[in-house]
Amino acid sequence: MNTQLLQSTPEGIRTAADLLRKGELVAIPTETVYGLAADGLNGAAVAAIFGAKKRPMDNPLILHIADEKDWAPLVTEIPDNAKKLAEAYWPGPLTMILPAAACVPNEVRGGLSTVAVRFPAHPVAQAVILQAGCPLAAPSANLSGSPSPTNATRVWEDMQGRIAAILDGGDCEVGVESTVVDLCHTPPRLLRPGGITPKMLEDVVGEIEIDSAVTHALIEGAVAASPGMKYKHYAPKAELWLVKGTANAFCDYVNAHSGPNVAALCFTEQVDKLQVPAISYGSIDNQIEQAHRVFDALRQLDEQGAKTVYVASPRPEGVGLAVYNRLLRSSAFRIINTIRVVGLTGPTGAGKSTVAAAWRRLGVPVIDTDTLARQVVQPTSPCLAKLAETFSSAILNEDGTLNRGELAKRAFATPEAAKQLNAITHPAIIALAQQRLEEAADEGYPAAVVDAPLLFEAGMDTICHKVVAVMAPKEKRLHRIMARDDIDETAAAQRIAAQQADDFYCRTGVTVLQNEADAVALQEQAVALWQDEGWWSAE
Ligand code: TXA
Ligand code: MG
Repeated sequence: MNTQLLQSTPEGIRTAADLLRKGELVAIPTETVYGLAADGLNGAAVAAIFGAKKRPMDNPLILHIADEKDWAPLVTEIPDNAKKLAEAYWPGPLTMILPAAACVPNEVRGGLSTVAVRFPAHPVAQAVILQAGCPLAAPSANLSGSPSPTNATRVWEDMQGRIAAILDGGDCEVGVESTVVDLCHTPPRLLRPGGITPKMLEDVVGEIEIDSAVTHALIEGAVAASPGMKYKHYAPKAELWLVKGTANAFCDYVNAHSGPNVAALCFTEQVDKLQVPAISYGSIDNQIEQAHRVFDALRQLDEQGAKTVYVASPRPEGVGLAVYNRLLRSSAFRIINTIRVVGLTGPTGAGKSTVAAAWRRLGVPVIDTDTLARQVVQPTSPCLAKLAETFSSAILNEDGTLNRGELAKRAFATPEAAKQLNAITHPAIIALAQQRLEEAADEGYPAAVVDAPLLFEAGMDTICHKVVAVMAPKEKRLHRIMARDDIDETAAAQRIAAQQADDFYCRTGVTVLQNEADAVALQEQAVALWQDEGWWSAE
């Protein structure tokens, strides 16, 4: 097939509309990315889109309209929230999922009972839709899996010979695809972040839910709320790694991992500090620019022949959430977290919480694994299900919550049972700790603390750069436990006897804080250690 290149003149727009009416495929500009359009009510024309893009048939398409009165025939119901959102953000980069009317072909819906509708803001897109006289089904105009095109040249690279025409409308302003929000769900559910931010949605409809697939890989076997989220996406040929942490930590990491065919996708401010070829996707504080440039930057990496690319992770908030969501998928969820992790451990009563509190006062995020241990066994969690399977459903209360007494009875009955308990809970706690550490890195913290009495037992020391053990003479611990938990000396002594011996904590490489005087002295030691640059740089 010979692909025509059309200009955004009245004549080019007329030709595009004519081709679309005849059931042909035409790539058109929108304010987000280029769309690969077909007559959205013509099932055969829509089916051709999947062939041209090599897109899986069960991934549904968006219907584009150019007049607000044109969405009513496509849906069976327009909820109040949808009306309010349309009023606030249409025309614009917002797609709404609504119950589909019978006229919407199965090919558009990908077999679902709902349909996605959007009113784009781009004047050329609007003119084509109005002249074609039908809603246009249009996914992004790239081959399935590769980065979306934000100019006609990028469309040409993927689609020449596969479609009837490309209508050139210059660079797309937003640069990432529209925000997709499901209005068939209460509260409205964000399926794909885009130019309309979560805050902008909340300003209009109140509370929204953010689908977990926005920032995380789908759990194996789970059904995707938006089918598009389960496919490989936005991926250049190079292998990408999303690097979280401060701007400086990114440069240090990349420079320590330079090599042939290694490149960086980074912020403008970092380019000069890197010892590998670097492509910027915008200024560190300018999320609008990052969205505008990210897809083209991904394609430039391939042009340069990069094989391994370290990507400076954007802050996942505002429009940055959309950029983060795309880069996470481009990286196939490969994340490197450069945040410095300090493990804090020690026997009970030695003063661990005093140290944690002192560091918290310095503004350091402290992740408490006791809290995480409670969170991993929330009702319906995979961890709780596994425990019920292993120790019988007698460990569940009627409302589905964990009956701790019952679990303790069974899990501490034999050493094997205790081992089984740990084998189920410890990996879940570590995974959650890693998630919290990623969040801390996203918020710009250079370092964080993991407060874990069972740091070594759970194998959590392996994720720490530094380990600090707080120790105290037995006598002191005894009295502290008695006062803290209001128990007598025998009970306190029993607890201490059940703990590991001192040399279990004081291993090679572990920094020991001896709590010999009072709490104030211990706090001072803790603060001094945190501020000791020599300690941080020592291996
Ligand atoms: O900005 C955009 O939205 C661009 C331009 C061309 O308008 N279009 C676009 O289309 O990004 P596409 O097909 O690449 O992405 C549509 C997304 C997919 O993730 C798809 O799974 C989801 O919307 N989607 C479509 N219909 C849906 C439905 N009924 N229910 C849930 N998700 C749906
Ligand atoms: Mg797409």
